[in-house]
Amino acid sequence: MRVAIPAETEANETRVAATPDSIKKLIVLGATVVVQSGAGVSSGITDSEYTAAGATIAGTASTAIEDADLVLKVRRPSATELASYKRGASVIATMDPYGHEDALAAIAGAGVNAYAMEFMPRITRAQVMDVLSSQANLAGYRAVIDGAAEYGRALPMMMTAAGTVPAARIFIMGVGVAGLQAIATARRLGAIVTATDVRPATKEQVESLGAKFVAVEDDEFKQAETAGGYAKEMSAEYKAKQAALVAAHIAKQDIVITTALIPGRPAPKLISADMVHSMRAGSVIIDLAVERGGNCELAKPGETVVTDNGVRIVGHLNVPGRLAATASSLYARNLLAFVETLVDKETKALAPKWDDELVKSTLLTRDGAVVHPNFLPK
Ligand code: NAI
Repeated sequence: MRVAIPAETEANETRVAATPDSIKKLIVLGATVVVQSGAGVSSGITDSEYTAAGATIAGTASTAIEDADLVLKVRRPSATELASYKRGASVIATMDPYGHEDALAAIAGAGVNAYAMEFMPRITRAQVMDVLSSQANLAGYRAVIDGAAEYGRALPMMMTAAGTVPAARIFIMGVGVAGLQAIATARRLGAIVTATDVRPATKEQVESLGAKFVAVEDDEFKQAETAGGYAKEMSAEYKAKQAALVAAHIAKQDIVITTALIPGRPAPKLISADMVHSMRAGSVIIDLAVERGGNCELAKPGETVVTDNGVRIVGHLNVPGRLAATASSLYARNLLAFVETLVDKETKALAPKWDDELVKSTLLTRDGAVVHPNFLPK
């Protein structure tokens, strides 16, 4: 089994799909591993570290990919890359397939079997493969660090000879994986933390981290969680009540971090322009949902907007990539754990069990066709 690790080609993508550690384990599984020269540079991994782990280095993406049975990537392969794949090869990556059905058809057309890591079911067996969690956790941490860096004041209360510095107030909107880590990080830095969500289960989680829960807790709230543990789109009436509560609260906050998402829908708009204008000069909003349309009406993808009342609205793209070395090491471990389930221990070859829940949930294309139920023609 020949495994290739090409360098990522998308702008802003600093991560890499394998580390020296994951490569050693792939070799134990029976793989020979080829890494494209420079693939790990942005994650702080040199070619010689990959070589020391047992990989060989290829000068170009095409020489790395052309004989590979399995390609490991962070992002979906581009059309140029696909031209180098042999038919029947497999690729595992975050595929971002919604709205990119043409790209999916191109992968199928190239005879490549593609697995989407972000479709991994959230069951106990697959927790170690959950890239959404591993990356969202880091994004939540980094959002607080970015917020602290943009904020012109200290976060903890400080009692000094020159006077007392008050603690910063940080409000976290959306308490999934990213929001929980943001709460924990903000608390460690000494801020006064409040948080909101529409799922009732989050109240206890927020309080257990030492933060205060702020939400409209009506009958709709009590039923807002789906069987899968995700949020539902809320009614217009609930949204109006939520907006009124948030409006009063947000005006008193120094840093707001938004992480709210609803699967398969645009991110809910939680912070209006009026709310931004009610905040004090020097306040900061970090919108982690900006790639899915943003939770703040004024956030712009990839930009820091400074409003006329002096509020900074930060819309970084690929926030996990802002911690590339850590993000790559966790992502590589997520991938390795999945690859282990796809390899036959005796023959040391790729032998996916097509009826395994992990394979069925993630496999987008197989033998020249799109096979995932979400993308089959209606
Ligand atoms: P997500 O990224 O889909 O959404 C982030 C948060 O935004 C969620 O907590 C959601 O309730 C919240 N939200 C949505 N609309 C909102 C609104 N209008 N106002 C305020 N907040 C809003 O969620 P994530 O991080 O993927 O987690 C979803 C659930 O999955 C959680 O219960 C988490 O604990 C669970 N989970 C389970 C795993 C497992 O069993 N293996 C692994 C990871 C997460």
